Amino acid sequence: MSDKATLTYEGKTYELPVVEGTENEKGIDISKLRALSGLITLDPGFKNTGSTRSAITYLDGENGILRYRGYSIEELAENASFLEVSYLIIYGELPNKSQYELFCKEITEHTLVHEEIKNILDGFPSNAHPMGVLSSLISSLTAFYPESLDPNRSSEEVHLSIIRIIAKIPTLASWAFKNEIGHPVNYPDNNLEYGSNFLKMMFAIPSEVYKSDPVLADALNKLLILHADHEQNCSTATVRIVGSSHASLYSSVSAGISALWGPLHGGANQAVIEMLEAIRADGGDVQKYMDKAKDKDDPFRLMGFGHRVYKNFDPRAKIIKKAADSVLAKLGVNDPVLEIAKGLEEVALKDPYFVERKLYPNVDFYSGIIYRAMGIPTQMFTVMFALGRLPGWISQWKEMRENNEPIGRPRQIYTGANERSFVNIGDRK
Ligand code: SDX
Repeated sequence: MSDKATLTYEGKTYELPVVEGTENEKGIDISKLRALSGLITLDPGFKNTGSTRSAITYLDGENGILRYRGYSIEELAENASFLEVSYLIIYGELPNKSQYELFCKEITEHTLVHEEIKNILDGFPSNAHPMGVLSSLISSLTAFYPESLDPNRSSEEVHLSIIRIIAKIPTLASWAFKNEIGHPVNYPDNNLEYGSNFLKMMFAIPSEVYKSDPVLADALNKLLILHADHEQNCSTATVRIVGSSHASLYSSVSAGISALWGPLHGGANQAVIEMLEAIRADGGDVQKYMDKAKDKDDPFRLMGFGHRVYKNFDPRAKIIKKAADSVLAKLGVNDPVLEIAKGLEEVALKDPYFVERKLYPNVDFYSGIIYRAMGIPTQMFTVMFALGRLPGWISQWKEMRENNEPIGRPRQIYTGANERSFVNIGDRK
């Protein structure tokens, strides 16, 4: 492999180093390009631009491969708990028994949130979207834990900040839901494992005895693992760039939640169900909506399809589709939109427009069907994505800080007016 690339411009040739990753990915290191040549690169959406070196997650978009710290998601989803995977992603190795027990114990001891957070929650109208509430409540943690504002504290103090946000996000997420439906909030039940505790806070109501459902807990565990990290996606890149200014972990994650909210990113899981329901309400004519998705004059997109990296099946979508069938069967749920989703997938995978553009179902295409079967309302779907993605955001922020990466500050190509002199208002046309 050549470790140099050459760029020739206006009769001059510049040598740029080529870097190679542990999976033989190669990239041209352009960090000295401007100093050497006066040139910058331009790449809207960073489709061809790497922002960092990372040891956390490996994606192979052509072959539909996703691994966290070298372990395939297929193995992790089948055999691990979400907290085991969180520990792996954040600290780099699967925990041994005593490390895992301590990690779970620390998290259990921090599930409560300060009672004054209710004052912030009460400030939101009940129709507030839970993603906006969650982003605000996560940011409010900086007020209750001011020591978390300094990212350069000791590793023990950073670890405590990490434990606190992993422990408290299920409580805050369930409170955002309860606020939306105008119900009283529930407090954590530390006798329950992570996912079951969240489900109980979501669905327990004062007048009834809540009974945990292992089918729901298992489905949630799998879904959280599948969402746990995904290298430099939009929301993770947001967490990194916010954290690169030495903003706190909580401020960086709050920004990541806002980026995830967008319908082109994590908000797609809500948009998929809304799309499937609209198709169903319109008579279930799948071909009509496929034609709309292909029509450049029609803003309609087939939500849950396509991906910046995967040009093959999103491996997570395969697992979630299989889980959807099994969870709905176990719960005895017959959801007509699942059949519409399968119909759309079948037609799309044969349609030249989708085949040529390598548009396959992504992680968001089937996940909403499971969340719905679990009784989770549509507006909470992207909150579920955020719950899963939290360990990824934490790990990427921690890696960026430990590598002492510089503040993110892209350049630009200016296309505005050239220099001109001020004209007094009385003299303007
Ligand atoms: C997530 O990055 C990550 O890893 C994200 C994520 C994670 O885990 O963090 O995997 C989670 O965000 C998954 C993606 C969820 N979003 C959606 O499902 C929304 C629908 N999909 C798209 O809008 C789109 O596919 C993106 C945003 C996902 C990717 O967009 P790109 O890479 O910028 O591709 P593009 O918009 O330039 O599309 C390329 C072509 C275009 O057609 P042409 O201009 O070449 O003719 O494909 C077309 C697009 O019009 N196209 C679609 C389409 N997605 C792309 N046409 C119809 N329906 C779609 N869904």
